Amino acid sequence: MRTLTGSSRLAGVLGWPVSHSRSPRLHGFWLERYAIDGAYVPLPVRPERFETAVRSLADLGFAGANVTIPHKEAAFALCDEVSEIAKRAGSVNTLVFREGRIHGTSTDGFGCLESIRGQAPGWLAEAGPAVILGAGGAVRAVAAALIDAGCPKLTLVNRTAARAEAIARDLGGPVEVATTPPLADAALLVNGTSLGMKGEPPLEIDLAPLPPEAVVQDMVYVPLETPLLAAARARGLQAVDGLGMLLHQARPGFEAWFGVAPLVDADLRDYVLASLVSDRGAPQAASPRSGA
Ligand SMILES: NC(=O)c1ccc[n+]([C@@H]2O[C@H](COP(=O)([O-])OP(=O)(O)OC[C@H]3O[C@@H](n4cnc5c(N)ncnc54)[C@H](OP(=O)(O)O)[C@@H]3O)[C@@H](O)[C@H]2O)c1
Repeated sequence: MRTLTGSSRLAGVLGWPVSHSRSPRLHGFWLERYAIDGAYVPLPVRPERFETAVRSLADLGFAGANVTIPHKEAAFALCDEVSEIAKRAGSVNTLVFREGRIHGTSTDGFGCLESIRGQAPGWLAEAGPAVILGAGGAVRAVAAALIDAGCPKLTLVNRTAARAEAIARDLGGPVEVATTPPLADAALLVNGTSLGMKGEPPLEIDLAPLPPEAVVQDMVYVPLETPLLAAARARGLQAVDGLGMLLHQARPGFEAWFGVAPLVDADLRDYVLASLVSDRGAPQAASPRSGA
């Protein structure tokens, strides 16, 4: 049995609520796999106590923390330094405490792109236009990462057009806003809305106009196989589920806190997936909304 010592490295996930978070299970798997003297714990913190809690964690010797709903914007505001991608995303999901300073970054975009590269081999951001449905925090991060990776054209389609327009304005570059998704020349379609998630209405979209080589990614991971992904597979398109994004977004934080670049593989996926399956219908599974 692995035990902690006086020099254990500590990290956790700050959220309110946080009981739905898969991050303790995910990081716990890696800690066990790499036999690391460390722990990763859930940290339920009310919004009004967030700043005090973060500063206390730094004082207590934590190496850092993940940040999930509803604290991602507050985390951005209190960091001493934020990465370029966090500035573009306007939020922070990963904190690193180093030499008395709080560093923040956003890894959702990285996680999404790494997941697509893993599940749709051959896909390249620069290969063609992308269409993203939605304009929330996760889409902002993924849009910034796609542009940085060389995506030649990105169209945002959202129920509330003003939110998509704000992202286009803030990111600059080849980002457009449309009312209907321009699928005919899309190399990538991403669902960044909560439609299709358990308990939410389905996403209604006709995939027929997509080119045969297009990739379809869904950020929703409960259920794992959303109707969108099933429709994509039925059309013979490459389909990328939301669990991959969840797993890959955790990599940079784990490496920064525990000093090992962790691997996302089938064993990790099965382990985290088992908790999604066993939670079905359980009361504590009420909110699969947040990424981490
Ligand atoms: N796989 C992962 O690791 C990961 C990470 C982060 C997020 N996610 C998932 O990504 C999705 C978005 O997360 P977020 O943090 O960006 O959430 P958010 O900021 O709350 O944004 C939600 C988005 O969904 C749209 N939406 C909600 N209900 C809708 C409806 N009935 N009809 C049309 N559009 C609707 C919203 O449109 P309006 O702007 O019009 O309200 C908005 O664009 C969620 O499904 C979340 O679980 C997954």
